[in-house]
Amino acid sequence: AHRVFDPRVSTGGDRVKYSRIAGTGSYLPDKIVTNHDLEAIMDTNDQWIRERTGIRERRTVIEGETTATLARAACQKAIEAADVDPNEIDLFVMGTTTPDLVFPSTACLLQKQLGLPDCGAMDVNAACSGFMYALSVGDKYIRCGDARKVLVCGAETLSRIVNWNKRETAVLFGDGAGAVVLEASDEPGILSTHIHANGNYVDVLTTNAGISVGWDAVAENDGKPEIMMRGNEVFKVAVRTLGRIVEETLSANDMDKTDLDWLIPHQANLRIIAAMARMLDMNMDHVVVTVDRHGNTSAASVPLALDEAVRDGRIQRGDMLLLEAFGGGFTWGSALIKY
Ligand code: COA
Repeated sequence: AHRVFDPRVSTGGDRVKYSRIAGTGSYLPDKIVTNHDLEAIMDTNDQWIRERTGIRERRTVIEGETTATLARAACQKAIEAADVDPNEIDLFVMGTTTPDLVFPSTACLLQKQLGLPDCGAMDVNAACSGFMYALSVGDKYIRCGDARKVLVCGAETLSRIVNWNKRETAVLFGDGAGAVVLEASDEPGILSTHIHANGNYVDVLTTNAGISVGWDAVAENDGKPEIMMRGNEVFKVAVRTLGRIVEETLSANDMDKTDLDWLIPHQANLRIIAAMARMLDMNMDHVVVTVDRHGNTSAASVPLALDEAVRDGRIQRGDMLLLEAFGGGFTWGSALIKY
């Protein structure tokens, strides 16, 4: 039977100390769009895209694929890797900014398909920081004792909200999904999570239409809302802000940058990732990079990178991981994890 409230962990003094990552999974759609493919449909070129962003290709959904179908495959792989019974999961949190529908949430659309019990299921919208936000929710539920196993996913279909006629944004984004299963543990585990937002930058990175403000703006993009970004301004604030949160995260744990084994950053731009590595005195060999093949998959990018490096054996149990992301809002978040 599903256990919403577990007296073993929820009554005073007997709380678990940590959540730990029991398993990871990810999924990418099959369709590859290379920079050369984009050259054919807009005024851009492979060299510009590679030099300015590090991106060579990205994946995009085709008809019939949605955020939920990508998320479902990623979650199934994470559940399998964690070797848990889906019926034991106490909470499902999805970071996404491109949900299938206004409602039900993408998490609810998938809950029964994944075999989860009648546990809480919700989407969290924090744009590119969505996974970091979702992870922090899962971690807190476990640490406060109200959940023992939590499924956390980041999944997006950004290709559905870019204007494919605008080179400034179209070349940057891709689709995908990544997931982790968290479980209660006396050993670390997630050491800390950090989330922040600053609504003063709403206009710098936004979409031009929506449910409540209406659809007047969509005429020029085939009836779809589109991402509007002043890339250069975002770039500068992102580097500065991520630098701050990295310091905050290390100092909250009384740790030094030399304690880190791996940086698993949000994959928006290779130059931002390289700046973070320099700040941490980390060799790029210890930074997980997927932006060259995935582009910016928003909330999916960190769990996709994590899963890739876990599955290819780079990340080993006991390694110290720093995860970080920055996105629209602005929002930003991080996690320090002893894997
Ligand atoms: N192909 C060719 N040229 C392009 C282009 C493209 N796809 N996109 C823009 N350009 C041109 C611009 O028109 C501009 O031309 P101009 O100098 O003649 O005016 C020139 O390239 C430089 O544009 P700019 O926007 O200043 O480039 P940039 O070095 O800042 O790189 C981004 C643009 C978007 C790659 C970069 O700013 C970035 O990655 N920003 C951060 C994005 C991010 O982190 N988002 C976070 C969360 S989603």
